[in-house]
Amino acid sequence: MSMAHSPVRRAFERAAASYDAAADLQREVARRLALRLDRVLPSPGRESGRLLDAGSGTGFGASLLRARLPAHDFLELDLAPAMLKFARDRRAESGVEGCAGICADLEALPLAEACVDLVWSSLALQWAVRLGSTLAGLHRCLAPGGLLHFSTLGPGTLSELAASFAPVDRYRHVNRFTSPEEIRGLLVRAGFSVIELEQEKLVMEYEDVAGVLRGLKAIGARRVVEEGVPGLMGKHRWAQAVANYETRRRDGKLPATYEVIYVTASKGVGGTAQGHPRESGHV
Ligand SMILES: C[S@@+](CC[C@H](N)C(=O)[O-])C[C@H]1O[C@@H](n2cnc3c(N)ncnc32)[C@H](O)[C@@H]1O
Repeated sequence: MSMAHSPVRRAFERAAASYDAAADLQREVARRLALRLDRVLPSPGRESGRLLDAGSGTGFGASLLRARLPAHDFLELDLAPAMLKFARDRRAESGVEGCAGICADLEALPLAEACVDLVWSSLALQWAVRLGSTLAGLHRCLAPGGLLHFSTLGPGTLSELAASFAPVDRYRHVNRFTSPEEIRGLLVRAGFSVIELEQEKLVMEYEDVAGVLRGLKAIGARRVVEEGVPGLMGKHRWAQAVANYETRRRDGKLPATYEVIYVTASKGVGGTAQGHPRESGHV
């Protein structure tokens, strides 16, 4: 694991226990990703094989996909041991079989070439520091004809937070998220054929700004607001940023927008249709 990941790993380690309770957005996105998989996965692909869940967290992906892919072996991969332990305990409780966990960095996969048929990844690839080489690594691990099916976050994510904090200091408070067009280019460069690439905006509602930040912290995304800030933000600046965010309150709630990007791509054989990013409305 590279040093660049240490803060991400620590954040998700701390988040493991509170993650499931706070992960409404992640669950909703994973469910939507699963519905898309139903649409694109050809029936021969469902028979047997191996699925890699890259950035598997507490194992929600496997719980969604087990019934859809009963003959597949599942490999859950995550950087945070606490997330993997949570997933393992959950499997033991529910008696799920055919699933193994591996603690590893999805940016440096310790997996053999062409050893999986399907890569599933929900809301993990936005953490990749080098998305292009990460996609190339996933391409290497996929068998010819295999599918990469993932969700990630786009540049419109947390736009309210970014706009509220931007005027108060010179630090960047929201991650740089990769655009759908850039993702498409990186996929093609990594050797993939893009089958579908869609985006939608999901708007979550919070009681207050602290709630927005608590939600982020619980899913391990704390660095989103801390990146580049030396020590705590001054009280005055904090109050100013909160006041900026408060101007967006509607019907008693503060909105936080997540731009979610859903991608299906294939390795080599077939699947040459080039999708176009589609905008859909708020949900
Ligand atoms: C927001 S959670 C999503 C978890 C799960 N996919 C879900 O839908 O519930 C992101 C997960 O990605 C993992 N992660 C982040 N960067 C990673 C990396 N470089 N390698 C492996 N896992 C990583 C985190 O530890 C965390 O469990």
